[in-house]
This record gives sequence, C-alpha cells and structure tokens, in this order.
Amino acid sequence: MIFETHAHYDDEKFDTDRVELLSSMKEAGIGHVINVGANMKGTRESIHLAHEYDFIFAAAGVHPDDAPRMTEADIEELRKYGADPKVVAIGEIGPDYYWEKDPAIREKQIYWWKRQMDLALELDLPVIIHSRDAAEITMEVMKEYATKGIRAVIHCYSYSAEMAKEFVKLGYYIGVGGVVTFKNGRKLQETVCHIPMDRILLETDSPYMAPEPYRGKRNDSRYIPEMVKKIAEIKGISREEVEDITWNNAFDLFRKAKEWNI
Ligand code: NI
Repeated sequence: MIFETHAHYDDEKFDTDRVELLSSMKEAGIGHVINVGANMKGTRESIHLAHEYDFIFAAAGVHPDDAPRMTEADIEELRKYGADPKVVAIGEIGPDYYWEKDPAIREKQIYWWKRQMDLALELDLPVIIHSRDAAEITMEVMKEYATKGIRAVIHCYSYSAEMAKEFVKLGYYIGVGGVVTFKNGRKLQETVCHIPMDRILLETDSPYMAPEPYRGKRNDSRYIPEMVKKIAEIKGISREEVEDITWNNAFDLFRKAKEWNI
C-alpha cells in the first residue's frame, strides 16, 4: 500500500469528480492520504475531508503565498485544529522566494513561518515544509529548529543532493514527487540515490506535478506507482520494498496517524 503524504483534494480542479476519485483510491493501492492546507480555507476543507474519509488525514497551515497576511486569530484557529484527532501535521509552511521578490514581504513570510513552527513544537506535531528558491534561509531556520526538536519533511524537494544529505543529518525527511520521473529530473534522481531509503516520503502535490507519462495533466495519487517504479530502479530494490519502507516512514513522522492505521 502507498502512503501519499501531500495532496490538495480541496482544489477546485477536483470539483467535478472528487467523490468518485477519492472512492477509487483504495482500489488503486493508495492506503492513506494527507490533504495539506495551503491557507485557512484550505485547512478547514482539509479537515472536513479527513472527517469524511477514514483514510484521509489533514495538515493545518498557511503557505508563504498567504502567510504574510496572517493574523493572531489565524494562529489561534490553527492551535484549535491541532487538537483534532485527524490533524497529523502543521503545513504547508515555509519561504517562497520564487514568487515573492519584495524583501519586506519575504520578512513577513519568515515571521509567520516561524510562528507556525513554534506552534508545531507546542502541539508536538511535525511540519510540512514548502521551500522554493530559498535554500539558504531554509537551511538556517531548519538548523535552528532542529536543536528545538522539530520533526519535518522538506516537501517537493528541489535543492541539491548535498543539501538533502544535510537535511537528513538534521533528522528530516525528503518528500519525493513526480519530478523524479522527468527526463530533466536528474537533480532529484541524484538526491534519491544519495539519501537513505528510510528518509524518503512519497507525495504528489496533486493537482500539480503529474509524473511521466502524465506530465502536464491534472495529478492525483493514483499516479504514485510511476514514482515508486523510478525510485525502485534508482535504489535497486523492489517496488514492494519502496512502498513498504515509505509507508513506515510516513507513520514514523506523522505519529498521530498510527491511531488510525486500518
Ligand atoms: Ni502543496
């Protein structure tokens, strides 16, 4: 069975066939899904989905696109969600310097990212990190929080293999998505080659980042076997081993999910 650690089934791209699609997951070998909040609305919808479907968990958090406009009331609301039995992580949170060029707004991203990191520590929940074109600040902040004992996955990992090894040394997991199947996905393939199997998590970021041969189409968790195939090839192990190890990795990081493992 596959543990999908990062999807956005609340996205409007699933409005036409959400129920049908989610009902077909088990049959396609998808045992669990974490639906990740990207803003307050997405967080509420993720929790709603997690309550509706046994196999879905939720992550509560605000992505850097919206984080600069967060308020104390949002932190309070996220704190309340942390107590929900199906909320297994805070995320997705982090810096995005690709879309945001204004230094003052970048500073706000970092401020609210750290506030959500502090909240995760307080709630004893792991964090799902979104980081784009911001390698240096991400390493700096993740080093600081490693000393505080935070648990984390660097989702949709896009930096160097060298840096991945450093994140692994800090105790973090690396989220591997559809890019690993791309012809120009060499950097991520190299990362997979250089980090231990017990630090890899499977994820899609659906509806985005569909793997080959579906590249450019709407993504969903049923395409994960394409990533499994590629990782098995790189690591020289069987597809079953990739599924089993990443399944256990997900439960090691998202501990609260263990109570629901059916
Ligand atoms: Ni995402």
